[in-house]
Amino acid sequence: MTETKKSQWNSNFAFMMAMIGSAVGLGNIWRFPKVLYTNGGGSFMIPYIVSLFLLGISFVLVEYAVGYRFKRSLARILFTISKKLEPVAWFILFTVFLITTYYVCVVGWDLIYIFLSFTKAWGANPDVFFTQNVLHATESMTGLFTIVPTVLASVIAIWFITWFIIKRDLNEGIGAVSKVLIPLLCVIVVIIVAFSLTLPGASVGYSQIFTPDWSALTNLDVWLAAFGQIVFSLSLGMAIAMTYASYLPEGSKLVDNAMIVAFSNSGFEVFNSIGTFSILGFMAVTTAIPFNELVTSGSGLAFVVFPQVFNIMGDAAYVIGPLFFICILFAGITSIIALLEGFCYSISEKFLIERKKTATVVCIVGCLISAIFTTAAGSTILDIADAFLNNFALLFAVFLECIIFGWIYKFDNLIETLNEHSRIKVGKTWKVVIKYILPVCIAGLWLEGVLTTINNNNELSSTVMLILTAIVIIVPIILAKLPAINKDYYNVEN
Ligand code: PHE
Repeated sequence: MTETKKSQWNSNFAFMMAMIGSAVGLGNIWRFPKVLYTNGGGSFMIPYIVSLFLLGISFVLVEYAVGYRFKRSLARILFTISKKLEPVAWFILFTVFLITTYYVCVVGWDLIYIFLSFTKAWGANPDVFFTQNVLHATESMTGLFTIVPTVLASVIAIWFITWFIIKRDLNEGIGAVSKVLIPLLCVIVVIIVAFSLTLPGASVGYSQIFTPDWSALTNLDVWLAAFGQIVFSLSLGMAIAMTYASYLPEGSKLVDNAMIVAFSNSGFEVFNSIGTFSILGFMAVTTAIPFNELVTSGSGLAFVVFPQVFNIMGDAAYVIGPLFFICILFAGITSIIALLEGFCYSISEKFLIERKKTATVVCIVGCLISAIFTTAAGSTILDIADAFLNNFALLFAVFLECIIFGWIYKFDNLIETLNEHSRIKVGKTWKVVIKYILPVCIAGLWLEGVLTTINNNNELSSTVMLILTAIVIIVPIILAKLPAINKDYYNVEN
């Protein structure tokens, strides 16, 4: 047996912190505010809460039940259900691994900004500074041959930190780090939000969240946006909850745990957005730039708009600036370690490689792939990879999981597993959601993504997406075809 397989959380708290760490990430900090703003402000909370309960929590419960029941890696779970499904598992795991390779790069940019923020070294034009001085960005593909040394160094640093955590035993690594970083993250966010509320113009910002646009509720896109945010923010379909739940001891209260994690994650993003909007309100009032021009998402919000705000904030920015970037670092690292765990566990279980060695190989390969994103053309490729992997591949993965666990596997087993020790019980409604409602919603979201991409497509993105499609099909097939070293892997009893 592998070392990883015997792993078990030594406390429910460690498991919860790791789960919250996996969910709270860049998506909560820089994706949510824009999604909220462009989809009706206050009224968005209705589709958001409905999506959280109906779809988000329901799907997390599937992952919990499967992981807890099988106590195996995803690759072996799908092999157990049907031999033919093993490539699907590797497809999911490998897609998540590829997502991690660029996610690490973004956290690497953030690491650079922690240092810059102590002196506001981005100067008077943070937008030019970000694209030219930090990324050295070019859209031409010849940029692929120019590595940007600072970005490469910080990406290596993030991979090193990741390796240092995941190579350890579950509790000494992921458990211990999550138990420290997640409470610290909460303290930092409380400080940032409390401070931002004292800024002149804060109310101009946060009132945007509390002013509902009820007409948005009749717009299907708003509902899809809410659902999309829940999928991304709760890290659905990435085999994280499944892997973490497989390390739970007998007698764990699965449903209760899932609820706490989902509410904490959403609570975090809603609370944090009050701070973000207050800060943007301050900027709008001070500079007379219209509020809607300030609300961006992604790297534009974190590395351009926020530095612009820190420039006009005075001395307080020397404290709030570093705290903001440290917050992204902590949220990012706890997500990265979670994103890798399912892949590492599956490799280590199938090929009987001990945890430390698996972590080393995965981190080295990951770092080599990340190097592509540290070139001058890296940020252009990163955007294309992100659109493809998140909008297509990942949603497809969630869809496949619904079909496999809702239709192919005996679903009632999962109901039995969940209700065994939990105070809150699940039943027929949950079954209907997983079998019918969820797959339809995901298909809608997926189609919307396909249509948007087709409309905005150019030659470069088509080429990159085609290459990625080939990779996410070929590599999983190879991984599935390779014979298992672990003979227990072929034992299909459950
Ligand atoms: N949920 C995390 C976040 O919001 C992790 C995640 C990473 C989700 C990458 C999707 C893709 O950042």
